[in-house]
Amino acid sequence: MTVIPVALGDRSYDVRIESGLLGRAGEILATLARGRRMAIVTDANLSRHLATLQASLSTAGVDNEAIVLAPGEATKSWSVLESLTDRLLDLGIERSDHVIALGGGVIGDLVGFATAILKRGCKFVQIPTTLLAQVDSSVGGKTAINTRAGKNLIGAFHQPALVLIDPDTLDTLPARQVRAGYAEVVKYGLIDDPDFFAWCEANGAKLIAGEHDARAHAIGHSVAAKARIVVEDETETSGRRALLNLGHTFGHALEAETGFSDRLFHGEGVAAGMALAYAYSAERGLCSHEDAARVAAHLRGIGLPARLSDCGIDANGETLVGHMMHDKKMASGTLPFLLARGIGQTYLDKSVDLTAVAAFLDSANA
Ligand SMILES: NC(=O)c1ccc[n+]([C@@H]2O[C@H](COP(=O)([O-])OP(=O)(O)OC[C@H]3O[C@@H](n4cnc5c(N)ncnc54)[C@H](O)[C@@H]3O)[C@@H](O)[C@H]2O)c1
Ligand SMILES: [Zn+2]
Repeated sequence: MTVIPVALGDRSYDVRIESGLLGRAGEILATLARGRRMAIVTDANLSRHLATLQASLSTAGVDNEAIVLAPGEATKSWSVLESLTDRLLDLGIERSDHVIALGGGVIGDLVGFATAILKRGCKFVQIPTTLLAQVDSSVGGKTAINTRAGKNLIGAFHQPALVLIDPDTLDTLPARQVRAGYAEVVKYGLIDDPDFFAWCEANGAKLIAGEHDARAHAIGHSVAAKARIVVEDETETSGRRALLNLGHTFGHALEAETGFSDRLFHGEGVAAGMALAYAYSAERGLCSHEDAARVAAHLRGIGLPARLSDCGIDANGETLVGHMMHDKKMASGTLPFLLARGIGQTYLDKSVDLTAVAAFLDSANA
């Protein structure tokens, strides 16, 4: 078992990663249950993994109750939050109880936020089942729901008490979802770890194909990278945690243009967004065109989009920049951009001219 500590004082917790861990989770969770019934929140696509978890809890003598929600981004809503918190209150959840979030980023974000506000804060355990959730969203304590005005605009920082990652749960994840989550893996290489980007170039295809060693290495390395950044800047105040948004400002515009629909998954938007951030950095002479081409080539080689046309988007630069201005990172009329001086040399640039970005998006390089 790989154990990665997230050291945040009295909010510290461990991320445990091991193949087959779901089937053994009951023993670990029994110590948190302390003889009380545990609530598991999950979605309807996870029935097989829910059965494994419930069997494991029962064997460990932990009484449990599952709340099964509809799959999909629409579940991160006020109405589902209301019904979920009502259900949890009906179950008699107390502040010292641990609610289990079994699922992807949607379930993790929703349960994280529900438990942040339930009785002014109770505890929760993340058991992420998508690659995106295993390498990114389950660690770091960002929780949120979506509103009419946009995605993730209502939320809280609320750290989990424990994260249990069983890479074997990815065996049932559709290939397109695996690829989308892989974009967030590549992101850690591009932020500050050129050796890891080179590892991705050499091993990414194996990971996507489900090769166990490659998958385990990528998850462990990504979680360790995320934990390091979160420990340095838990609430995204110093700018360090903002590096995790590489590709997300461009990506957000692409997701908005495609209506946050299945036309473009979040990770696909991030992939194209990272390639665009590098292409824009190259155009501005910040990094070499070779580096930008290397990023695009790797993502495309995996089957991820790297250009607007790969995403089926023909909107003009002005429209896309218009979407960016609704980004919640917009402050005092400017938008901080993550740009790069090379592979693994991402930095936060607060002086980006949005007119120049729009012109770039209209150019052949985008
Ligand atoms: N909190 C954070 O730091 C953070 C970071 C990144 C993304 N997010 C959020 O995460 C969400 C996206 O997460 P996601 O990509 O995991 O999406 P998701 O939770 O919607 O899962 C994707 C799909 O896969 C299904 N699924 C999940 N695990 C499965 C499995 N093992 N086998 C078969 N099907 C499975 C789900 O039912 C769903 O249909 C977004 O709402 C995004 O805002 C949060
Ligand atoms: Zn992301």
